Amino acid sequence: MADSWVNSAAILGTDLHLELTRAGSRRAALMGALREAVRDGRLAPGTRLPPYRSLAADLGIARNTVADAYAELVAEGWLTARQGSGTRVAPRPAPPPPVPAHRRRTADRGSGGHPAGATRGRRAPRTAPRPVHDLRQGRPDATAFPRTAWLASARRALIAAPHEAFGPGDPRGRPELRRALADYLAHARGVRTDPGRIVVCSGFAHALRLLSGTRLLRPRMAVESYGLAFHRSLLGSAGVRTVPLPLDADGALTDRLTALDGVRAALLTPAHQFPTGGPLHPERRAAAVAWARGNDALVLEDDYDGEFRYDRRPVGAVQGLDPERVLYLGSVGKSLSPALRLGWMVLPDHLVDRLLDAKGEREEWTSALDQLTLADFIESGGYDRHVRRMRRRYRRRRDELVATLAERAPHIRVSGISAGLHAVLELPPGTERSALRAAACQGLALDGLGDYRHPDATTRPLDGLVVGYATPPEHSFPGALAALCRALPPGRTSS
Ligand SMILES: Cc1ncc(COP(=O)(O)O)c(C=O)c1O
Repeated sequence: MADSWVNSAAILGTDLHLELTRAGSRRAALMGALREAVRDGRLAPGTRLPPYRSLAADLGIARNTVADAYAELVAEGWLTARQGSGTRVAPRPAPPPPVPAHRRRTADRGSGGHPAGATRGRRAPRTAPRPVHDLRQGRPDATAFPRTAWLASARRALIAAPHEAFGPGDPRGRPELRRALADYLAHARGVRTDPGRIVVCSGFAHALRLLSGTRLLRPRMAVESYGLAFHRSLLGSAGVRTVPLPLDADGALTDRLTALDGVRAALLTPAHQFPTGGPLHPERRAAAVAWARGNDALVLEDDYDGEFRYDRRPVGAVQGLDPERVLYLGSVGKSLSPALRLGWMVLPDHLVDRLLDAKGEREEWTSALDQLTLADFIESGGYDRHVRRMRRRYRRRRDELVATLAERAPHIRVSGISAGLHAVLELPPGTERSALRAAACQGLALDGLGDYRHPDATTRPLDGLVVGYATPPEHSFPGALAALCRALPPGRTSS
């Protein structure tokens, strides 16, 4: 049998041409043909494969051969098998996006605390395979989006929407959503607000862009010495110069804010420092607020993953200490999906109109239907249920990560694990770049701590890996962990 059309259009919904022309066993040939079909997109993620019996009959090979090939492709992460839903093509890990220009520029300046040449060396070698495992931070498990519950909310919201919802709306966002958020943020995050102080936006980055447009952040703004380069670059292109604030295990050293000249605002991640992972110490929270009060300044609180806490008491929002000085910014980027582009700002009363001026009359709005859906999702309890479910899932993964490292790489310390969707693996000095290269060779995408370091930071650079354990779909998490362990620098052997 050289070549066969799989005659399973009824099952696949499409014809599938598999060529079993390779030399060697039929199992290996079938696996090769299926991998190729997945790779070139003929078998899209989620496609259900034919049962063993029909594929075996179509190809003229033994049923067990098909069963073995499927099982092996499941183990490799190409396919998934679930009771009742058959064997399907696995969701494919997206290749890492091209490095954006601003990040390339930062890297060329040696932002990771490495000389420029050394930073270039961090890139994967040309021969590195395309990533098959994804442990990049910043993404929730995309396969866990609560499609059914979201659809139910969308349906209810659409039916209940008043006619005016389909006309030009209010730049503050739908009142239904602002009401739902005011309740939710008060009980879940300790935010002090009413709907009138909330402005809906399309996410944290959008909030930052809008705030930059108010000139409130100029001329200089303090940021944590480790953070997202994308946010720094966004501020930079709006004419806001960022000044790094040193960090330790208790978060940013906010008592240093008073010494910074010309700084009118500070951007902090108090619930879970991004990316190093500790909560901001209560005294430092108080120091940040005292600084803002004493210097007519503002604190921007980025609560990017505040819902996800595991074994420590919830840390409420700093905004609760002074709603007139602290702007609380959040989004569904981690709790639901970054693709929804839905976020919120809780503003001091006196800044609402200024922000709305920056937002403008028409353009920068999020779809009213998505806003209404989120309002229903929150009010019907769907959001809470989803967050609780994901908290259990991510906690399990976090535990698995910690246990695997304890067993296979006990010399590596893991930090930042009591909350959030990522952990930091602290590496021996000077080993970050080689660990990243080793990861690329294992087909594993992830970031090093150096990628997050402010180019002007003066503290000693930290070597570490930022592991986004929420990112892979359930079935490929064990494979991603195994690849991670293979990429870690070995411990010292006692002689
Ligand atoms: C530090 C930090 N802040 C905020 C966000 C949320 O960003 P957005 O709402 O623009 O998706 C993220 C998401 O990755 C993040 O990592």
